[in-house]
Amino acid sequence: MSDSILNENNQNKKPSHVAIIMDGNGRWAKMRGLPRYEGHKQGLKTLRKLLREVNNYEIDYLTLFSFSIDNWKRPKSETAKLMDLLRKFILNDLSELHKNNVRVRIIGSRENIPKSIINLIDSAEALTINNKGLYLQIAFNYSGRDEILNAVKNIGKSISVGIIDPVKINQEIFESYLFTSGVPDPDLIIRSGSEKRISNFLLWQLSYAEVYFEECLWPDFDKGNLDNAIKDFMERSRRYGNVISEIN
Ligand code: IPE
Ligand code: IPE
Ligand code: MG
Repeated sequence: MSDSILNENNQNKKPSHVAIIMDGNGRWAKMRGLPRYEGHKQGLKTLRKLLREVNNYEIDYLTLFSFSIDNWKRPKSETAKLMDLLRKFILNDLSELHKNNVRVRIIGSRENIPKSIINLIDSAEALTINNKGLYLQIAFNYSGRDEILNAVKNIGKSISVGIIDPVKINQEIFESYLFTSGVPDPDLIIRSGSEKRISNFLLWQLSYAEVYFEECLWPDFDKGNLDNAIKDFMERSRRYGNVISEIN
């Protein structure tokens, strides 16, 4: 790829799994005197563009935070429009993603989601299940704490029917009960929109992720911002609690 930031010297340092908290849509709209919904619409355009460019980075997994369970606290008019945008995203963009060999998985709770959207999610996952290109996880109606609680409840059920022995529970078994089961932890987490917090995203999975905060609001996020985040990541030394600086 001629315009890729990857080359033979840094190829092995690239992140395999990137997660993004796409934040700042509301502020983007407010700055322009527009309703918040216009910011979400623009944010979806940014996402679409990013998905077309992401091939250049040879990322294996991309996990995007698009709607949190905590976002139900917002006015109904806004949450209804956010539901509508996911519906539009699947209806308009799924065929292109499928053509590009992208596997789509929606992670999060199915509670409070309209049945019509659940059907769309199920069919998007079924259509792309055998795709071997980018593995795209969309966190929708997602909460890191609820994901962990949900895993604990299901582990409890498995114990009660004798499928697992509580003494043998380890990290691997626990992870197999998370929505993200089978997907390795993110290497890099990017948050746009200048806030410096994790906001209940992937609480278990981010334990050793490199964190990158981007000032720009999500609708303004572009290839240059992604380049900067990945370049920054490739210069970091990941130690996982060890003392060796070249584990990367
Ligand atoms: C992120 O943008 C999208 C969602 C949380 C659904 P926000 O809507 O949080 O935008 P700001 O943070 O208010 O600017
Ligand atoms: C995080 O952004 C959730 C998403 C981007 C979907 P929020 O805007 O909900 O987070 P807070 O409220 O600033 O922590
Ligand atoms: Mg926000």
